[in-house]
Amino acid sequence: MPERVVDLRSDTVTLPTEEMRGAMSRAELGDDVYGEDPTVKRLEELAAEKTGMDRALFVPSGTMGNTAALLAHTRPGDEVIFEELAHLYNWEAGTYANICGLAARPILGEFGIFTAEQLEEAIRPDNVHFTRPTLVCLENTHNNAAGSVWTPGEFEAVSSVARQHGLKVHVDGARIFNAAVALGVEVTEFTRHVDSLMFCVSKGLSAPVGSLLCGDSAFMEEAYRARKRLGGAMRQAGIIAAAAVVSLEKMVDRLAEDHDNARRLCTELSAMEGISATQAPRPTNIVMVDVGGLGWTSAELIDRWKKLGILCNPRPPTRVRLVTNRHVSADDVTYALDATRQMTRAETVSTAA
Ligand SMILES: Cc1ncc(COP(=O)(O)O)c(C=O)c1O
Repeated sequence: MPERVVDLRSDTVTLPTEEMRGAMSRAELGDDVYGEDPTVKRLEELAAEKTGMDRALFVPSGTMGNTAALLAHTRPGDEVIFEELAHLYNWEAGTYANICGLAARPILGEFGIFTAEQLEEAIRPDNVHFTRPTLVCLENTHNNAAGSVWTPGEFEAVSSVARQHGLKVHVDGARIFNAAVALGVEVTEFTRHVDSLMFCVSKGLSAPVGSLLCGDSAFMEEAYRARKRLGGAMRQAGIIAAAAVVSLEKMVDRLAEDHDNARRLCTELSAMEGISATQAPRPTNIVMVDVGGLGWTSAELIDRWKKLGILCNPRPPTRVRLVTNRHVSADDVTYALDATRQMTRAETVSTAA
């Protein structure tokens, strides 16, 4: 058995803190479908305040929040513009098509970020032969682009093009607080350029369940209906909202520790022979690691690391994704690095022999 477990599969593995568990056990509850759960109301008000948006709606998952946003902003047959590696486009079971009835137009960005010029080119003209583009989705931080951060200036530039063409802008901000902490800005710096934002409390912020969908009052009316259609209207949801309140009040600043740990993993893994590790130019808590140089596949690295207690997710054929989180300490990072150094040295020696 490995002497310890360093779980780098995702920040979704984080467990609620003791303070969250206490808040959950004491939460005042009511039927939220009747608008009677005071804890959900408190969470939604707090989320609206932190994001600078008119209102916020508590939903069970990021996927549901994103799907509700698509339903609220579009009509079936419209076209939605995504970055090519976006979670909404690739990892949400095709809900944009099979639930929302939308066509997709991907734009390949650099580290998940596309330019205003690329957006301008991708927006189809108003012509009866074409699908009608109505929405642009941005992902901040960008999960599959090594945790890349869009800056508020980049948001402003693409949103200005979207608006000139009458398109709305939605942000999949599952990790928007990581973006804010990485740049040292408030989340409101991003949201003032967009129409809606979904963020998750169940990732680095450590709550057990939930996401918030935020926007202006007219959008939120539609989003509220969309959540109902998707089966996401919950009853005594205050029991989980109580943990999410702690996420927003107490868990944001500590994300910087996850960023520091990810940076060290990236730097020191890169220095090992045969391994290449990448973070985005504006890094957060995600590192992409490529072991093609050792002649290993993703699965081979995962098997070897598992024996040492180091867990991660595959990005085949030769890459894996590491996500730092509250349960990975600086000491765990040292352990993972030392264990990997020994493992690769042994490999290099046995190959040479
Ligand atoms: C960028 C991004 N958006 C959305 C989601 C979906 O969140 P959930 O798993 O809560 O549905 C994830 C989940 O990993 C994500 O990384």
